[in-house]
Amino acid sequence: MQPVEIKKNVHWVGAVDWDVRDFHGYSTPKGTTYNSFLVIDDKITLFDTVKKGHGAKLLDHISQVVDPKKIDYIVVNHVELDHSGSLPEVIDIVKPEKVFCSANGKKALLAHFHREDWPYEVVSNGQTLRLGSKTARFIETRMLHWPDSMFSYLEEDKLLISQDAFGQHWANSKRFDDEVDESELMYQSAKYYANILLPYSGLVQKLIASVREMGLELDMIAPDHGMIWRSNPGRIIEAWDRWSAQETANKAIVVYDTMWHSTESMANAVADGLIGAGVDVKVMNMQVSHRSDVITHLLDSKAIVLGSPTLNNGILPRMADVLCYMKGLRPANKIGAAFGSYGWGGESVKLLNATMEEMKFDIVDPGVRVHYVPTVDDLAQCVELGRKVASAMKGESAGE
Ligand code: FEO
Repeated sequence: MQPVEIKKNVHWVGAVDWDVRDFHGYSTPKGTTYNSFLVIDDKITLFDTVKKGHGAKLLDHISQVVDPKKIDYIVVNHVELDHSGSLPEVIDIVKPEKVFCSANGKKALLAHFHREDWPYEVVSNGQTLRLGSKTARFIETRMLHWPDSMFSYLEEDKLLISQDAFGQHWANSKRFDDEVDESELMYQSAKYYANILLPYSGLVQKLIASVREMGLELDMIAPDHGMIWRSNPGRIIEAWDRWSAQETANKAIVVYDTMWHSTESMANAVADGLIGAGVDVKVMNMQVSHRSDVITHLLDSKAIVLGSPTLNNGILPRMADVLCYMKGLRPANKIGAAFGSYGWGGESVKLLNATMEEMKFDIVDPGVRVHYVPTVDDLAQCVELGRKVASAMKGESAGE
């Protein structure tokens, strides 16, 4: 792969990871990129590095622009190892004059690499750094999504190097938003938001407000993963604004696992009730769906209906998995309901409801339980449950 000049004297020199399929529980079926940016100026500066194992690609891309030993500065916008794993080998070769990072960034670098000897230079929010003809301004973005996180804004280029923010996990030979399929780009962007940023939505809202207040002009946004937003950078900010406000559509997801197809039949009947009431529905069987796709579809869903048979007085393990993951991501403003079959005991619906209550979902019905195999009447009850959820989504009280 070749480096790509994204602005005059600013080069993408990152690495494409075609193979990665899991990002701490987030499925990445299309791989990812670790984007690094090299600025050629009086002070040659590298913004972020790449994951360990990809350092050779980074150094090869840099070498096609400039001898890596000529780099003066390295800026660490974010310490997570997909961006700093190759930092030790890069620092050993480059021997930079300074390594710029936030105060929390320095703490995190020391805690990861235990290298007191690196030439750290801590920068504060709003501080600028003259590189020559270009000026970098640092904007701290604490807890978005780590305490160390910050943006670097190249003022003259109106270029925001935004680390994880506005990224997507998508390995590609293309570098820009206008070179790829738009709907896939927005799906991957939503998936990234839902699986990484959702718990910090309140902070995202504040950040977007403060960026607007600052009047930051944005000609291009270059995240550390995926495509660079050059055709309409405002589009991804507007999307993040909507996602962080947890705005929802007329959409529901039915998420279930099944033992002998009883809960599956119930899931399809619940979906029929929702669809009949005009709701856009996604039915997700956890035997073939991934938890990270469930969260992606939950992002703009107003309601979620959960199904599990009872197994050993509990719920099926795949449902426990997705609910554990969901709880950590703290989705808000959802309507919920549950259903499931049982042979004896029959605790699953109660347990699903309890988990949704912990997440402060609005439970609109006690749920439907079916002994072993559903009858025609049982399935009619499931259709009715779907209708009740649809009514609640429209703001109508149950039974209307
Ligand atoms: Fe791409 Fe938070 O690391």
